[in-house]
Amino acid sequence: MPSLEIIKRRIPLQNRPLHPAPYRGIIITAGDNLRLKEMNLNIKRRLHNIMVTGGAGFIGVNFIRNLLSNRKFSGRIVNVDALTYAGNTMSLPDVPEKHEGRYFFLKADICDTERIYGIMKDFGIDTIINFAAQSHVDRSIINPSDFVGTNIFGTFSLLEAARKSWKPGRGYLFHQVSTDEVYGTLGSEGSFSEASPYSPRSPYSASKASADLLAKAYYHTYGLPVTISNSSNNYGPYQFPEKLVPLMINNMLERKPLPIYGDGKQVRDWIYVEDHVRGIWLILEKGIEGESYNIGGGIEHENIRLVHLLCRLVAEETGAVEKDLRELIIHVKDRPGHDRRYSMDCGKIIRELGWQRMYTLKKGLAKTVKWYIDNTPWVENARSGEYLRWVDENYGNR
Ligand SMILES: NC(=O)c1ccc[n+]([C@@H]2O[C@H](COP(=O)([O-])OP(=O)(O)OC[C@H]3O[C@@H](n4cnc5c(N)ncnc54)[C@H](O)[C@@H]3O)[C@@H](O)[C@H]2O)c1
Repeated sequence: MPSLEIIKRRIPLQNRPLHPAPYRGIIITAGDNLRLKEMNLNIKRRLHNIMVTGGAGFIGVNFIRNLLSNRKFSGRIVNVDALTYAGNTMSLPDVPEKHEGRYFFLKADICDTERIYGIMKDFGIDTIINFAAQSHVDRSIINPSDFVGTNIFGTFSLLEAARKSWKPGRGYLFHQVSTDEVYGTLGSEGSFSEASPYSPRSPYSASKASADLLAKAYYHTYGLPVTISNSSNNYGPYQFPEKLVPLMINNMLERKPLPIYGDGKQVRDWIYVEDHVRGIWLILEKGIEGESYNIGGGIEHENIRLVHLLCRLVAEETGAVEKDLRELIIHVKDRPGHDRRYSMDCGKIIRELGWQRMYTLKKGLAKTVKWYIDNTPWVENARSGEYLRWVDENYGNR
């Protein structure tokens, strides 16, 4: 069996299409097929006892729900979350009972290496998926130190705990969940591929870029089995109401102003969260150690056009007049250093792992609008800080 490095060298880069369209006309070359076949034979992941950090946040909650309903996964999930303002165990109220013996929640800070090490030992953790982060760009501008703490030091702490716990070559995996924002901003043309240089421009993206680089360094220096995914803007159920999509939906429902930064012509690539978490699962199963994978929706939209579409969908769902909702839009001062355009080339995960997006923007947003309408108690709870009091009561003395 040839080694991974030999396989990598044997398949010249020029055999692969350089800039494939993200979703159509992907060409799988003979080289790609050979590379995948041989590499998959090399991968024997355990995936029995998975530690999900930040599993009480938006994407973590969706990942856990998705994985527990995945028939290919019969193992245990240990959700480790510090329950910051963005973490909400009330997003998973049914899960502990429904999946008794397979799902565990522990309130812990990823910066606490000893505690993480102890949890890894107690549960025989063989896989870590690091979602835990300070994730809101606006907050990073006001208070960057939390971002350096959790996103950089927290990732370092997890990597250290994994390095101390795991022996090489035993099917372990550390997966770092990252963002397309590490690549910086684009003009009107082009897309970011996994080979694009990192050029972060906000404290948030700089902290995520640093964490990715640390993860890569642990792969190269210590042979720690690491994979990374860089995803574009997610939307869907359980997203904290301060982010663009839920903020707009909830404000429309309450007839509050819809604040848009600057001219609203910032272009973002949107992905429905379920498509993202399915991509992460494929990487856990088949992703190649030391490699990064872009996961994007392939749907570029100006923020203002996205809000117009949301006005239409909320109007359709509630019977409101679309024009009245549009009149709620106000333009506010732009965010400093606001990146103009992101665009992802996701050819690699499509070609190599067989990932496909299942949601169009309209389908995903329609599902999201309906979820927020049907779950106003969750939104009120998240916004009122009620869940923080609940957490204090429940976890304060543990
Ligand atoms: N939301 C997006 O559009 C998006 C896009 C690309 C990548 N990402 C990345 O995906 C990950 C998850 O994003 P999200 O939107 O679910 O974020 P989120 O803010 O909703 O959730 C983050 C979770 O991490 C927890 N957390 C924060 N600090 C912690 C600490 N020190 N120890 C333990 N837990 C801690 C929070 O309590 C929360 O539950 C992040 O790493 C983010 O950078 C997000």
